[in-house]
Amino acid sequence: ARAQIGVTGLAVMGRNLARNLARNGFTVAVHNRSAGRMQSLLADHGDEGEFIGSESLADFVASLERPRKIIVMVKAGGPTDAVIDDLVPLLEEGDIVIDAGNAHFPDTRRREAALREHGLHFVGTGVSGGEEGALLGPSIMPGGSAESYTWLGPIFEKIAAQVDGVPCCTYVGADGAGHFVKMVHNGIEYADMQLIAEAYDLLKQGLGASAAEIGEIFAEWNTGDLESFLIEITAGVLAHTDPVTGGAFVDVVLDQAEQKGTGRWTVQNALDLGVPITGIAEATFARALSGSVPQRAAAAGTLPAHAGTWDVIDRDAFVEDVRRALYASKVVAYSQGFDQIAAASAEFGWDIDRGAMARIWRGGCIIRARFLNRITEAYERDAHLPLLLADEYFTQAVGDGVTAWRRIVAQAALNGVPTPAFSSSLAYYDGVRAERLPANLIQAQRDFFGAHTYRRTDREGSFHTQWTTDRAEVQE
Ligand code: 6PG
Repeated sequence: ARAQIGVTGLAVMGRNLARNLARNGFTVAVHNRSAGRMQSLLADHGDEGEFIGSESLADFVASLERPRKIIVMVKAGGPTDAVIDDLVPLLEEGDIVIDAGNAHFPDTRRREAALREHGLHFVGTGVSGGEEGALLGPSIMPGGSAESYTWLGPIFEKIAAQVDGVPCCTYVGADGAGHFVKMVHNGIEYADMQLIAEAYDLLKQGLGASAAEIGEIFAEWNTGDLESFLIEITAGVLAHTDPVTGGAFVDVVLDQAEQKGTGRWTVQNALDLGVPITGIAEATFARALSGSVPQRAAAAGTLPAHAGTWDVIDRDAFVEDVRRALYASKVVAYSQGFDQIAAASAEFGWDIDRGAMARIWRGGCIIRARFLNRITEAYERDAHLPLLLADEYFTQAVGDGVTAWRRIVAQAALNGVPTPAFSSSLAYYDGVRAERLPANLIQAQRDFFGAHTYRRTDREGSFHTQWTTDRAEVQE
């Protein structure tokens, strides 16, 4: 038998993807640089489907039917380049190399161009859902050539998560589009996680509630608009008791958040494109602040707070305010993320369908949530929607919560509880809806010190004021 698809790199993600493919009836070629992982996969799971194991890359390539479809699941960066370099001489025109790791999309663009020179397809694909998703059905975001998707689509759509019978996989766009969208997915993941963490902190500080009590609140929230994987696991994590101390597990976890880099890439790219993704940026910086150990040591107990002591009178009303503030801030983070996708799509000519992205994020991935249906519907109403917040559904949903949101952000400030993502999202909301922003003054200042010119509200053209002489205005 010849394999329909191959996987090289059999650490947990590659291994689980290979098993998922085999369980779905595909004959899967498997290879790992050190053969032990390949052998243990066959020994432990060989009965789940058809595998063809190879110890050498050449045998692995030879075991595949053409056009060969090879998933590379190794560490992003140098290791991925090394595997590609080894593979290319063994491949033939029309073969498809798929990078399913968390590659940085400029690398994917570079690799795609290089492999195209050899007549090969290179497909950078986002895969979300962690280990369990890879095995049971991830969300899959493939880029590369449209032609490659005619081969890959039927396979990927079969192994992807399914929601209401619709696969969580679709062709995203050319070259790096798939990895780009996965990067923004991860940025949104950071924002979602930070917002949940702020909500937890507010409930803790405002109510003096225990982790278990807060877990119950999250479990309750998971039955409504906020229903999502991250809210669900948060309830589970908060309910967990540490076996060592017998106390709440979260209370013994060190408060320094780490990251592997996708959030940082999202923010770097947003700066390049000039798209304000303040929720994602604040979430990324909040992780950085938590890890700023010397700075925190110098400030803790030293910087005066002059804050009030939180005195919540109506517990239920407060919990509901936090819930509404969380939902509104979440909508802002997604609205910003979809703006970034639109900007990159225009910049790189990807023609990304934002509604389809929301659709394939409904299942399988880390940010899967009930409310993604609402996003898909918004883009179905208007594929060119300039701002997700301006869709009628979200305008109303966020508008209904805005008073609660203001109360929470104001009380957090008065009581000295940091809510960077809640507060910056509200500032974005007020900024984007403002009839007039103070950017007029920025432009005037720039013209003053650098003759950078300004435009006027009442006339077309570009103007400069001769600030150091007679302050006469000249048209440039
Ligand atoms: C996913 C996750 C996955 C991974 C993140 C973690 O979609 O399955 O996003 O890709 O868990 O990269 O990111 P950090 O280590 O940067 O938090």
